[in-house]
Amino acid sequence: MIYTVTLNPALDKTVEIPSFAIDSVNRITAMRTDPGGKGINVSKVIGKLGGKSIASGILGGTTGQAIMSALKDMGLETFFLFADGETRTNLKVVDKTKHTNTDINEPGLTVTEELLDALLKELLEKIKKDDIVVLSGSLPKGAPKNTYGTWVKCCREAGAKTILDADGELLMEGLKESPYLIKPNHHELSRLFDTTLETPQELEKAARKLMEENKVEKVVVSMGAAGALYVTKDATIYAEGLKVPVGSTVGAGDSVVAALAFAEESGMSLEETVRLSTATGAANVMCSGTQAAEYQVIKDLIPKVVFQEK
Ligand SMILES: Nc1ncnc2c1ncn2[C@@H]1O[C@H](COP(=O)(O)OP(=O)(O)OP(=O)(O)O)[C@@H](O)[C@H]1O
Ligand SMILES: [Mg+2]
Repeated sequence: MIYTVTLNPALDKTVEIPSFAIDSVNRITAMRTDPGGKGINVSKVIGKLGGKSIASGILGGTTGQAIMSALKDMGLETFFLFADGETRTNLKVVDKTKHTNTDINEPGLTVTEELLDALLKELLEKIKKDDIVVLSGSLPKGAPKNTYGTWVKCCREAGAKTILDADGELLMEGLKESPYLIKPNHHELSRLFDTTLETPQELEKAARKLMEENKVEKVVVSMGAAGALYVTKDATIYAEGLKVPVGSTVGAGDSVVAALAFAEESGMSLEETVRLSTATGAANVMCSGTQAAEYQVIKDLIPKVVFQEK
């Protein structure tokens, strides 16, 4: 089973306002709400790929209830704990006239360490050997900086494979406990080394250093439109980005993480994994907002993936 963990979810409210202007009255012409947060996005995409996952995390208030029921409507299995307070709503203002995107994000709720421990305990009671636990995204206020380190360690000791998708200090702390796979983008990997890494050669060298120093099995470095680099103990593959019409690049990385988790669980070869995750990332880019692409779109892109093995 694949478990996704979203400790800081959000309700994404996307509104269209032509000629959006500050200091004046704006009229919404279209709107939609989607349950969001990186782990939740991963679960949505795994569902589209035909896989099963259980989405977990921390929610709060009526917004939290709305997220739970939306996930249920999508046919996703969930286990969330509720904190005091209200899950954040992130407002995205899309202006198709001026071609601007404006984000207005609520601060979100504050969690206690007791609640985090209770969620971890519940997860550990559920997971079995070779299950996959995807830990991704930011942490809510109140969560210690080494939360991902603690979760990676406990899940690893329980025999699960952990996939960590985080940035900065959260990634650095998680790395110390040897996650099975990490998927930084090239900016996130660069930040870990306090430098700018650009070429596949530079990125591979940095990825291998992390693998050796932190006992990480696999590193996938995504590079936006330029594709991704897959580094394992025995192989390095560079996959070119697919040329697709861009709807929204938000969540492309989450789609790649979903495909990586699904491929790992299905026992796919590295080449099959590269094809599926590149196609899934590109298909997501073709969609607007954080909507997950339909499998048919992904399937049509799979034969178009070009990659070179070193
Ligand atoms: N403009 C694009 N055209 C085609 N493919 C893209 C584009 N942007 C992203 N992708 C695909 O999606 C993958 C992941 O994208 P990216 O590196 O932007 O992830 P990310 O920065 O982690 O994104 P996020 O965290 O917002 O989900 C890329 O490796 C690539 O395959
Ligand atoms: Mg990302």
